[in-house]
Amino acid sequence: MNPNHAQPPESSYSRRDIVKSGAALALPLVVAGCAASAPGAKTPFAPRVTKQLKIGVVGCGGRGTGAAVQALRADPNTVLWAMADVFGDRMEGSLQGVATEMGESAAARVQVPPERRYLGFDSHRRVTDDPEIDVVLLTSYPHFRPAQLAAAVAAGKHVFAEKPLAVDGPGLRSVLASAELAKQKRLALLVGFCWRYHDGMRASFDALHDGAIGDVLSVHTTYHTGTLSRRPRRPEWSEMEFQMRNWWHFTWISGDHIVEQAVHSIDRLSWAMRDELPLRVNCLGGRAARSGPEHGDVYDHFAAIYEYADGRRGFHTCTQIDGTPSDNTDYVTGSDGRAAINGWNPESFVMLDRKGREEWRYKGENRDMYQNEHDQLFASIRGGYPIHDGVRGAHSTLMAIMARNAAYTGQTVTWEQALASQEVLGPASYALGDVPLREVPIPGKTPLA
Ligand SMILES: NC(=O)c1ccc[n+]([C@@H]2O[C@H](COP(=O)([O-])OP(=O)(O)OC[C@H]3O[C@@H](n4cnc5c(N)ncnc54)[C@H](O)[C@@H]3O)[C@@H](O)[C@H]2O)c1
Repeated sequence: MNPNHAQPPESSYSRRDIVKSGAALALPLVVAGCAASAPGAKTPFAPRVTKQLKIGVVGCGGRGTGAAVQALRADPNTVLWAMADVFGDRMEGSLQGVATEMGESAAARVQVPPERRYLGFDSHRRVTDDPEIDVVLLTSYPHFRPAQLAAAVAAGKHVFAEKPLAVDGPGLRSVLASAELAKQKRLALLVGFCWRYHDGMRASFDALHDGAIGDVLSVHTTYHTGTLSRRPRRPEWSEMEFQMRNWWHFTWISGDHIVEQAVHSIDRLSWAMRDELPLRVNCLGGRAARSGPEHGDVYDHFAAIYEYADGRRGFHTCTQIDGTPSDNTDYVTGSDGRAAINGWNPESFVMLDRKGREEWRYKGENRDMYQNEHDQLFASIRGGYPIHDGVRGAHSTLMAIMARNAAYTGQTVTWEQALASQEVLGPASYALGDVPLREVPIPGKTPLA
């Protein structure tokens, strides 16, 4: 289906697949996560929308800037109306970036005067509480997503929320509650697991689910890459500002790289498993090549083993270590063949039989997945079929959180334990002052909370 059409958005799930797997009956939450966008729905269940849609951005960095442009391009009758960030320099840079991208149309489409540029840790409230705003783009750091999502949904806004959706159990439960409320209020909630909106990946995972390599027996997804950059400490920065500007090195802000970055690959592990929920996870991890406080408290490698109710196992490995080979592939073994799908390489959208002969190949186009997300989001709002990715996005996020906690503690973590966890990461309140640096967790010593 062309995502540019105002039609019921095609779910990354296919209803036929869910019924065929039988998983739907056992896992009501999974179905609840996708029911609203089920293909084949004939009647809009929310009002169609024809008016101009005003957009507010919360978190004006790389993704905030990109998502704002994609939202404006997705629908000609949208304007960027307000922005929120902690730091003024990030916001001004973002505004400039959006204006440059929009070119001549910027004058009409970018309407963010100084009085609608909000700064501070609570600045999102000025956006979510603005009755003029229809759609909020949540593109700040993962730690803040649950509260920002709750505020947006409570205020009746449609939402694009970047992944991951939370960094700890309490945050995750808040996200699940917001996802449920969004559905009740018939609000769209699209989560930035962008590979679910990639043409070739969707076709490949549909082929997997259609049995192109038989039954899926096991999956191993990888996210092996180098370290992320660092912004050197400046004398005028408080410790909080240092941590915020180097957020991917601090577990309380980012969730660690398995939650912040590799969660894409964990989401695809789940996708290959038809979004069945794992029973438990064991995970190895540590810091082999990172040391010193400038690297905060995050690890640089993880190796997770998820166990499923039918005895299958799903594997995920991720590294952020310079000078080691990169790999970002989904290796799927089926009863009748195998696949090694790498979203960055369209030549890998192929299914092989047991002898390595090609059984299936995707030959269609591969449009920009980030643009596809917004094309589908706005089409779903306009057409009265609001997309609901919230529960599914929360489940993939929790899979990453539970693996991280298993690695940090050296303990097996069950789905129920992860969901019930009382551990709250981060300070009790936010200000640009002092903030403690957490000790690097040690497996076998750090307790599971
Ligand atoms: N889907 C993808 O492929 C993809 C790619 C990159 C980033 N991301 C995700 O997007 C999010 C943002 O990443 P980024 O690379 O744009 O980071 P970034 O640092 O470039 O931008 C984030 C912005 O949010 C602001 N911010 C932080 N806390 C805030 C708060 N409480 N209120 C308002 N603003 C706040 C920061 O000051 C910063 O300007 C992360 O969750 C990241 O994982 C997703």
